[in-house]
Formats: sequence, C-alpha cells, structure tokens
Amino acid sequence: MEITTVAAKRFSEKLLEWHHQHNTRSLPWKGVKDPYKIWLSEVILQQTRAMQGLPYYVLFIEKWPDINALAAAPHEEVFRAWQGLGYYSRCKNMLVTARIIATQYGGVFPAQYAHILALKGIGAYTASAIASFAFGLPHAVVDGNVYRILSRYLGIPDSIDTTQGKKLFATVATAMLHQEDSAAYNQAIMDFGATVCIPAKPGCSSCPLQEGCYAFRNNVTNSFPVRSKKLTIKTRHFGYVILECNGEIWLHKREAGDIWENLHEPYLIEHTGPVDAEFVKNELAQYQYALNGHIQHISTEKQRLTHQHIHFYFFHVRLTQKLPIAHGNWLSKKQLGKLAFPKSLFKVFDLHLLR
Ligand code: ADE
Repeated sequence: MEITTVAAKRFSEKLLEWHHQHNTRSLPWKGVKDPYKIWLSEVILQQTRAMQGLPYYVLFIEKWPDINALAAAPHEEVFRAWQGLGYYSRCKNMLVTARIIATQYGGVFPAQYAHILALKGIGAYTASAIASFAFGLPHAVVDGNVYRILSRYLGIPDSIDTTQGKKLFATVATAMLHQEDSAAYNQAIMDFGATVCIPAKPGCSSCPLQEGCYAFRNNVTNSFPVRSKKLTIKTRHFGYVILECNGEIWLHKREAGDIWENLHEPYLIEHTGPVDAEFVKNELAQYQYALNGHIQHISTEKQRLTHQHIHFYFFHVRLTQKLPIAHGNWLSKKQLGKLAFPKSLFKVFDLHLLR
C-alpha cells in the first residue's frame, strides 16, 4: 500500500490540529515526560479502560514515586495494590522490569527503543508510547484504535488479525506518524480513537478528518477494520468451595500458565459443566472425611474475559477438622487482608468471610 508524503502529512496535521484545539480528554499522565510514570500508565492501560485505571495510577505513584521505590517494594504489597485490575501477568512483569532497571540500568529508564522493547511486559505499543512521550523518538503506536482509524481513513481491506495484515498496519502507522512531534501525534491518535473514531456510531459529522476519510465518503465505517477470524471464546465452570475450620480458610496461590497467576483462591473444582453441592460432596470424599456438615451454596456468578467466559458456583463448608489438601494453606481471616485475590472473589469474600 502506497502512502504519499502529502497524504500522510494531511492526516497527521489535521489530527494534531484536532488535538490542540478540540481534544478535551484530561488524564493525569498526559503530557508527562517521566518514563517511569509513562510506563506505569501504559502498563495499567494495556487491558484496562482509562477511567478504571486512573485510581490505580494515582495510588502507585503515591506509594512508589520512582522506579527504585517500586523495585524495592515487597511482591505481595504490589500485587495487593494491583488487585481488581486483572491480567496479573502485567503486575508480575512490571516488578521484573522495575528490578532490572534498578539493578542493570542504575535506576535510569533506558532511552533507546530497542532497550525499552527488550524489557519484560513491554510490547511494541508500550515501547512506542514510552519512546515518543518520554524521549520524542519517532515511533508510532499501533493498537485496536489505530487499526480502526487508519483502516477507515485509508480504506484498508487487509485483515488486522493475520501476521501479514499486522505488518502492513505497522508500516502504514509509521508512514502516517508526524515525525517532528511523535508524542503529540501518538497521544492524539489514542484520544481520537477513544472519543471520535469509536467502534460503534463514530462522530463522523463533526470529524475534522471526514473529508479525506474513505469509510465516511463511502458510508462504510462499520465495515472497518476487517477481521478474518471470529474470536473463539472458551466457557469454564469454577466451583469454589470456601473451606472453613476454626476461623481458618484454606487458600491456594494460583500458578503460571493460566489466568490469575499469583492470586489466591479457595478450593477450586474446575468442571466441564455446572457444579452443584452433590458434585462438591463427591469431590471432597477423596479426603476420607465424612462431611456431616452442610454444603451451603452461596451464589452463582458469571465473568466475561476477552477469551473466556467463567461461571462461578460458590459454596461454603464449615469443617470440624482440617482436610489434608496439598498445595495450599490454612490461613486466619485476619491474614486474608494481606493477600491479593481475583476481583471475582471480592464480593463473596466480603459477604461470607470478612464479616
Ligand atoms: N491508552 C493507552 N495509552 C493511553 C494514553 N497515554 N492516553 C490515553 N489513552 C491511552
């Protein structure tokens, strides 16, 4: 796909004009030059909406104002501060990166794109955001917003979910970048995608790019971006059994290779279908313990993640004797306050444990 310098200039200058005159989106990390703060905001925003991420950003900056402070923070404390944001591998990678910068870079954030990109948890998008915002380097951000804006504006028929399509979009994004002010351009395209060129019902009627926009001119905004595959969504069934014995709860710390790595959870029975009290009773029978106590069904909930839908079946069992379950610990309710849990467990814990 050929992009002329004139066409790219027309796009980027109109976008910057919009940014300077009409972009009213106000967020605390905007205009910030400190790479630590930019990195933190970008990691938080990787899979989280700006309004949801905002209080976390403020809290992290308050608790750990620079990279050395974060690098020195206890693991559990950082996870606890991250609690509720989800996608915890971000938090884990963030700590690894903070510690690498503290030890290998003398606490100074690297200023070269390749060095930034090599850090854990930093992909091309985040590296471009840091490189442009903090160091003014000419790297264009490319994400779903950028796919949507560029595919609509230029009428790009290539799929965004193929290796070839992704390569093409990366090249086009680089061609469209305003070389002299990459920071403003990247911020502008992010905000433009969040407020004007949105997925459904975009604000075309007042869009400053409308004149040169292929999708607007042909009335096909809904046809872009193009995808070749349908998203496959897995359905999972989690039976959570809160086992309580003399004021202590059995908890397990989740491991790598699945969702919620490093977060804590009660006894989990993952099954191919719904989990009921009878099923729980049969599962617990493996511990040779006569369950004369009642298996109380607390609630049934659902959570939608990008690639999976999870059904939760919560149960509470009061035991008179601890079951010898491997890979976990019996902890007092007081100790729960120091641990991090998946967001989906907050409500049930608040209602049934922390009373
Ligand atoms: N989304 C990701 N990074 C962002 C930023 N810096 N500003 C606004 N939205 C964003």
